[in-house]
This record gives sequence, C-alpha cells and structure tokens, in this order.
Amino acid sequence: MKNTLIAPSILAADFANLQRDIEMINNSEADWFHIDIMDGVFVPNISFGMPVLAAIAKHAKKTIDVHLMIVDPDQYIKTFADLGANVLSVHYEACSHLHRTLQAIKAEGMKAGVAINPHTNIDLLEDIINDIDLVCVMSVNPGFGGQSFIENTYEKVRKLKALINKKGASTIIEIDGGVTNKNAVQLVEVGADVLVAGNFVFKAENPTQTIADLKKLTAF
Ligand code: DX5
Ligand code: ZN
Repeated sequence: MKNTLIAPSILAADFANLQRDIEMINNSEADWFHIDIMDGVFVPNISFGMPVLAAIAKHAKKTIDVHLMIVDPDQYIKTFADLGANVLSVHYEACSHLHRTLQAIKAEGMKAGVAINPHTNIDLLEDIINDIDLVCVMSVNPGFGGQSFIENTYEKVRKLKALINKKGASTIIEIDGGVTNKNAVQLVEVGADVLVAGNFVFKAENPTQTIADLKKLTAF
C-alpha cells in the first residue's frame, strides 16, 4: 500500500495563532511541515523569513520541508540547515550551478530538493535527476496560496516518474499548489509521493479531519 506523505503548507495558517496551528499538525496524521520562503524578487510576493521559521521549528515535531522561492539560494543554505530544515528545495530557474547547489545542501545534512515552475520541461532534469532527493513539481505559478491547480501537471508527473525509473534514481515527487481531494488520487496514480496542501487544509472546517481524509484517500 502506498504511504503518500501529506505536507500542510504553513503559508495558509493563521499567523496570529501559529503555535496553535503547528500543534494541530503535530497532533494530526500529517507527515511534513511545508514552509514557503519568498523574497519578492524570484516571485511577486514576500512570505516570511528566518525569525518566523525559527519560531516554527521550536514547536514543529515533524520533518521540516523548506521551499525556497528566492534568487541566489546558495548563500542561505547553511542558515536554513541551522534553522532546522530537513528538506531544502531550491528552484531550478534560480540556480546557474544546480549540481553544486545540491551538493552543498547535502553537505549540510539535508535532503536536496529541486522545485520546477509550470513552464519548466521535465527533460531539463535528465542530467541531474540522480543527484536530486525530491522534485517539487509546481502545479500553480509560485508566489501565492489558494490558486487553482494546473491540469497539465498530471502529464508532467508521468514524464518525471518515467525519467526517474529510466535513470534508476530514488528521487521522490512532491506536488505543490491547488491540491485538493479532487486531484489527490490521480496525482498519486501518476507518481506523486508527497502532497502539499495549504488552503485545502487550513480553510477547511476541520483541518485535522481533512488531513486524515487526504491521507486515507491516497493510501491504496
Ligand atoms: C505557492 C506555494 C505553495 C502554497 C500552496 O507558491 O509554494 O506551497 O502554499 O498553497 P495551496 O495549497 O493553497 O495552493
Ligand atoms: Zn511551496
């Protein structure tokens, strides 16, 4: 049976009740905390930075999955390791020397992730896939929560899964943006291993139950 990992995105939490929302995730069936860091340059929005991540890490009892939507991520790799990140994803589009960046992330003891924008072709990962622990397939344009899911994602995930198999890589696939109970099953069927969910979880009447339902729905 598939154990699909569920990663609620803190971007959709109530920042005035952050500790409460973190405890909700700690006590739920969620697997990871997904943390979106935006710089207002790589994406047209600014989320939050290091002091907020430090506050989250103080209470979070599960894997901390950090998604950097920033230019020049290399200069902050050690900082994010020190802050408690377990998985660190950089954007393919933000890295001129991706191979070097991934080695630097691993050297700090973290899993190395690569996020790709909706327009970025899977074939571009062919020469680097064996060095990537996780590919974060963006199913919306990065920068904002609450956007609608881009349908072409299924085809991309299918292609990515085929590439991973062809290369004998152990890379896992994460989907980020617009994930709901309407697309979760199909995403897992085409190869997704981790589902990020922001608004679908936090805007639900019962977030804990919504996480449990998503977990159950994707275990088959
Ligand atoms: C978008 C972020 C996502 C976002 C997902 O730039 O990378 O992680 O929080 O939020 P939803 O699930 O609401 O689309
Ligand atoms: Zn994200």
